[in-house]
Amino acid sequence: MKKIIVTGGTGYIGSHTVIELLNNDYEVHIIDNLSNSDISMLDRIEKITQKRPSFTQLDLRDKTEVISFFNGISNIEGIIHFAALKSVGESVKMPVKYYENNVMGLCSLLEAIELNDIPNLVFSSSATVYGSPKNLPVTEKSPIGYTPSPYGATKQMCERIIEDFTYSKSNFKAMSLRYFNPIGAHDNGLIGELPTGIPNNLMPYITQTGAGVRNQLSVFGSDYNTPDGTAIRDYIHVSDVASAHVHAIDFLTNYGESKHFKVNIGTGTGLSVLEVIKSFEKTSGIKLNYILTDRREGDVEAVYANVTYAQNLLNWKAKYGIDQMTKSAWLWEKAMRNIN
Ligand code: NAD
Ligand code: WQD
Repeated sequence: MKKIIVTGGTGYIGSHTVIELLNNDYEVHIIDNLSNSDISMLDRIEKITQKRPSFTQLDLRDKTEVISFFNGISNIEGIIHFAALKSVGESVKMPVKYYENNVMGLCSLLEAIELNDIPNLVFSSSATVYGSPKNLPVTEKSPIGYTPSPYGATKQMCERIIEDFTYSKSNFKAMSLRYFNPIGAHDNGLIGELPTGIPNNLMPYITQTGAGVRNQLSVFGSDYNTPDGTAIRDYIHVSDVASAHVHAIDFLTNYGESKHFKVNIGTGTGLSVLEVIKSFEKTSGIKLNYILTDRREGDVEAVYANVTYAQNLLNWKAKYGIDQMTKSAWLWEKAMRNIN
């Protein structure tokens, strides 16, 4: 059984990926400091898979602890590195916190990789590295653009650090997966996203409005140069994002040379805010209370991925459509709020 360390494995995308790994007979060890997740996730993962991953509460910024953790485990096939802070808005207010957490966390891991000769790393990157892309769909050859948020800058920096690290080693392979807009939840409503406070992202704001936790959704901008005037994104089901990681780690373990791959993870389809709302209304049976308001500062008009590289390299393709995404997100919201 191949042994994989998953950092941030009790978080939103990490937990869905741990399920995919366990279902594919990987041995999984999670490390997480629980700064944005809950230990009860382990029970939920066990309920879904009938397997319990091992867990160590650890802060990746603590390099001494990280190195001692890795000293205690042998024959690690690879690391999937999700652990990071991810709020774009918070990163603008607290940049140092983001650089320290996201960049130092990666550096601790790379030091442990160096000391233990761990051969494979999958890194959670983001479409945010492209900034405001000039041409659509966005391919991996599209230029890395200016990203106004420190969060986005940490993803660019981490990719660069991984690039340099890979170049310096002869037996190390890495893959940065650039996710577009992951939404939705596992089909059974047992796990999903746990946003703290008022959500910034569209999907949790929609489901919380549907549940009556928020009064009204503001649709940011209706004068974009798009068919219905609202902004376009490439929304992708979190379970599809999760399965991409299993394909990525399978690919890396079978790849012979030192290399850092960068791969878009999206569906390849752009949807407007109003199209997502329509899908939610259809799958939930709820008429959503929303208004059209001004554009949100920093938002781009349209971003969606070209996913040909992921398909060819990883033999992976997103399976779920928007209705399955909104349906599963609503199922999870209802489960959290005890709504029938
Ligand atoms: P999440 O907050 O749900 O999960 C991140 C996990 O990492 C949490 O469990 C948190 O406790 C843990 N963590 C954070 N800092 C840590 C540290 N220093 N040491 C140990 N554990 C730490 O976030 P998510 O949505 O699952 O995102 C996972 C990754 O994917 C992140 O790197 C994020 O930047 C990236 N990403 C997310 C999205 C998205 O829309 N959710 C899009 C693109 C990229
Ligand atoms: C989607 C669309 C909003 C909320 C962010 C990060 C990105 C990545 C994914 C991590 C936009 C509109 C939203 C609302 C709205 N994360 N919207 N009303 O901004 O594309 O990407 O999350 O890497 O880095 O920037 O996602 O879900 O916030 O917004 O109208 O209340 O929904 O304007 O057009 P975004 P989002």
